[in-house]
Amino acid sequence: MSSIASVLSTYLDRRGGFTVAADDRVTAREFPLMPLGEAVDMGHAPDGTPLFDPRVFDTAEFQRNPYPYYRILRDHYPVFHDKLHNCYYVTRYDDITACYFDDEGFNTIPKGSSSGVLGNTQLELSGVEHRRRRNLYGQHLVGQALQNRVPAIRRLARDMIAAWDATDAPYVIDNGDGTRTVELGRAFANEFPIRVVCQVLGFPDEARDDFYYWYNSMMSGLGGSERHQQGLEARQHLEDYVAGLVAERRVTPTYLYDEDGKVIGKDIISKLCESKLDGDFLSTEEITSNIALIVGGGGETTRGAILNMWYLLLQHPDQFERVCRDAALWDAAFHETLRHSTSIGGQPRHNTFDVELHGVTIPAGSLVHMVDVSANHDERIFASPESFDIFRNDLYSGKLLRSGYRKDGRCSHMAFGVGPHLCPGAWISHQESVLGSQLLLEHMHNPRINTERMPKDIDGVRLAPIGLGAIRELWIDYEMQTRG
Ligand code: HEM
Repeated sequence: MSSIASVLSTYLDRRGGFTVAADDRVTAREFPLMPLGEAVDMGHAPDGTPLFDPRVFDTAEFQRNPYPYYRILRDHYPVFHDKLHNCYYVTRYDDITACYFDDEGFNTIPKGSSSGVLGNTQLELSGVEHRRRRNLYGQHLVGQALQNRVPAIRRLARDMIAAWDATDAPYVIDNGDGTRTVELGRAFANEFPIRVVCQVLGFPDEARDDFYYWYNSMMSGLGGSERHQQGLEARQHLEDYVAGLVAERRVTPTYLYDEDGKVIGKDIISKLCESKLDGDFLSTEEITSNIALIVGGGGETTRGAILNMWYLLLQHPDQFERVCRDAALWDAAFHETLRHSTSIGGQPRHNTFDVELHGVTIPAGSLVHMVDVSANHDERIFASPESFDIFRNDLYSGKLLRSGYRKDGRCSHMAFGVGPHLCPGAWISHQESVLGSQLLLEHMHNPRINTERMPKDIDGVRLAPIGLGAIRELWIDYEMQTRG
């Protein structure tokens, strides 16, 4: 199950459309790769109920084709006790929403292997402790503070796209006939969200390359992989560097400026330097952990949103054409992408008391996975959940609220979670994805997927599905003349 922390660690190991693990040989016979939308028959109980074998979670089949399996869970085992992995899965939208709001009954306290790399972060706190830390900087990522940053975000995107003209990198190919082929991940989406975060935090431009290295090392060191040591070392380097910045900014804060050079506010590091908890200034360790969490939360997630959105839109040319004609539709495209294919599978929680749900008793202290991607495909909430439709009228696409949204038959998607831990970066990632995409579209005339270079599904012909997570690469052909 991929949570906000663990999804970040696995992305570096994935190649192409889906992963085939080395030890899949053992299970491959029982879980062949199926046509999309069809589950492997795992047998039936005498009353006809489909059986569910949790070994499927570890297969390549599940990675690329998860939704028919989640449908079985939602319909027949809304609380599934997975004895193999020693945890429980909650898969229906309404149940997950209720659990997220029950901050007392379902807490986030137990430390995962991410703690070593990210440090003590609010992700793993509940109740009052969580609220006090969240308020430290959440306000700087929303509202007017965010609006003030829009010109700077736009400038970062423009600079990255302009650099395509001057590069001979293998992921920006001039075909010599007025067309270009670009791999959108390396040319834009991998780094753009990190640059935005780096700037909003207030890292000096000259630290950007180091920052990108720390980010990659920390992300690949989450989840207890063999790269954990590298992640720890990168965090130490980051902390050493931040210690210097903090010492300077405790004395002399630094500011963010608008395009006219007017001050729009202090950067987040300067804000954290002057913040107090219980009357004490935050320690350098606390500031570093906050930075590590913002970096960790804001990179891979937004990268995935941008790439998945373009992949889905370009496979639905009629919808893409409408977006090209009406830039306001990017908002709907962003939210429908996150409903259809977000890169965060769900979030782990531990229950404080014994809980009974759908006739299943979950003993206190159990690991309970809230499967956000299953909630997003719950047909009790979203009609034809497997179709990508930016015009669907059952998805709420307005301003996201911590209190969730359910009005006139429309619910928000669950990609940003809901309740006390609702992603504080939701609005900035939205802005990045939409503004970045609008600028990409200004530059790329008649963009289409270069199918030759993309991974294929099991028939060897169709494009690989996104499955769980985000696509790794997106090769696009486009014409170089300016749009008419
Ligand atoms: C499409 C992009 C994004 C997605 C899908 C996403 C998803 C999520 C989710 C599901 C959570 C809830 C975790 C929980 O319930 O335990 C979360 C929390 C968080 N996200 Fe995001 N996120 C995105 C972008 C960002 C960005 C851009 C930032 C920072 C600039 C960010 C920073 C955070 C932080 C700090 C938390 C912890 C909040 C807390 O525990 O109170 N995220 N994110």
